Amino acid sequence: MSNTYILSIDQGTTSTRAMIFDHDGSVVAVDQVEHEQIFPKAGWVEHDPIEIWENTRKVIGGALAKANLNSKNIEAVGITNQRETAVVWDKNTGQPVYNAIVWQDTRTQKIVDRLAGDDGVEKYKSTCGLPLATYFSGPKVTWILENVDGAKEKAESGDLLFGNTDTWVLWNLTGGADNDGVHVTDVTNASRTMLMRLEDQTWDESIASDMGIPLSMLPEIKSSSEVYGECKPGVLNGTPIAGILGDQQAATFGQACLEKGTAKNTYGTGNFMLLNTGTEQVPSENGLLTTVCYKIGEQETVYALEGSIAVTGSLVQWIRDNLGMIGSAPEIEELAMKVEDNGGAYFVPAFSGLFAPHWRPDARGALVGLTRFVNRNHIARAVLESTAFQTREVLDAMNADSGVPLTELRVDGGMVVNETLMQFQADILGVDVVRPKVAETTALGAAYAAGLAVGYWENEDDIRNNWGEDKRWSPQMDDDERERLYRNWKKAVTKTLDWVD
Ligand code: G3P
Repeated sequence: MSNTYILSIDQGTTSTRAMIFDHDGSVVAVDQVEHEQIFPKAGWVEHDPIEIWENTRKVIGGALAKANLNSKNIEAVGITNQRETAVVWDKNTGQPVYNAIVWQDTRTQKIVDRLAGDDGVEKYKSTCGLPLATYFSGPKVTWILENVDGAKEKAESGDLLFGNTDTWVLWNLTGGADNDGVHVTDVTNASRTMLMRLEDQTWDESIASDMGIPLSMLPEIKSSSEVYGECKPGVLNGTPIAGILGDQQAATFGQACLEKGTAKNTYGTGNFMLLNTGTEQVPSENGLLTTVCYKIGEQETVYALEGSIAVTGSLVQWIRDNLGMIGSAPEIEELAMKVEDNGGAYFVPAFSGLFAPHWRPDARGALVGLTRFVNRNHIARAVLESTAFQTREVLDAMNADSGVPLTELRVDGGMVVNETLMQFQADILGVDVVRPKVAETTALGAAYAAGLAVGYWENEDDIRNNWGEDKRWSPQMDDDERERLYRNWKKAVTKTLDWVD
């Protein structure tokens, strides 16, 4: 086993990566390529699926070359992905009929309102665990079928396939149009479409019919850890693809949050906190989602409560790209460290409306509390703090739903290198924040799912044993100050509502 590895593909919102892991869960090689973010109109966000597939092939080749390995050294491939982003393509040609509509895209608001009708946004919640919102895939597919010429007819005649980017990558890796690609997804990705019954993890015909989506378009739902097919052709020809997990569920698995009551928070484009609720589906009374956490082969399905925040790391990108206030993302911390506090400024980045726990599509971003005292350093600090405040809102909801306050939070994702943010996060939550040694938990989680399926790792104890603590931040702020700042944040949030008529 010493010279065999698992290759994980992480098809994320801003980039696609391939990572090769060894048996200890350490990273052997990584290759990464960013893809274009397409913003055709306010609120619309698209990706080019062909670019994503080409990048996937590039990074697989790149990671293998960097590690000086070939397909013989790779025991299995795992896939993890940005969830909810919807791709619809022609199965005969392999060509997408439209760009991928990204999870952050809000164009489906009218479709969502129409579906909710007099029943309201909780209409399907008891079936699929989710409120009706622009975030999820189902209404995005409806939009494509209703707005792309000829798509509806082609879908009805069985020529179109739908998938999130896990399915798109898998179908292409396993041969695509020429070689009978495998059209499959896993339970975690399916749980983000609004089309899957949480109870038995099958497609719900009546929701699909309400959304005008023919069942023939939908991928087969499988567990998160089993052999779905083999790569063909290409550099990994013959290698089994044996794990799929939506990226946030993959991070939960990679963080070894395998016991009921354990939770992680990933700081990426957005932030996503997941609490493992074991084999029980816990309905949320506080604006969280009930979702599938993972299902390993034939074992029972494990569920999670999730708090999804749309904009955290992408606010730093916005400050860099749209305002030009910084030249690179790490500069945000350099500016923020020059001041002791936010100078009274609060930035609520409701760029895609507000997700958990508010679910307010009518919200738009606001920067409030300004005086002439406030300078760019304070604004940089407010940018970082917005991530921590939004996380506090989600943690409060999670504590209320589960009835058991979390005592520490495992963190991962790009922003956890930011010490200023991590300390403030511990301060504003009032609990310890813990970073693991291997911060690449998303790719690692998918590698674990694939490796378990082919016997590379024996069982979940291997995952627990590989997890190790790197750094811990403990709260240093006094309670009064913590609650004063949080009260101000909540006031700032009220300023973002009712902007869309
Ligand atoms: O639900 C959206 C989420 O899966 C996106 O994650 O890391 O690609 O921003 P990320």
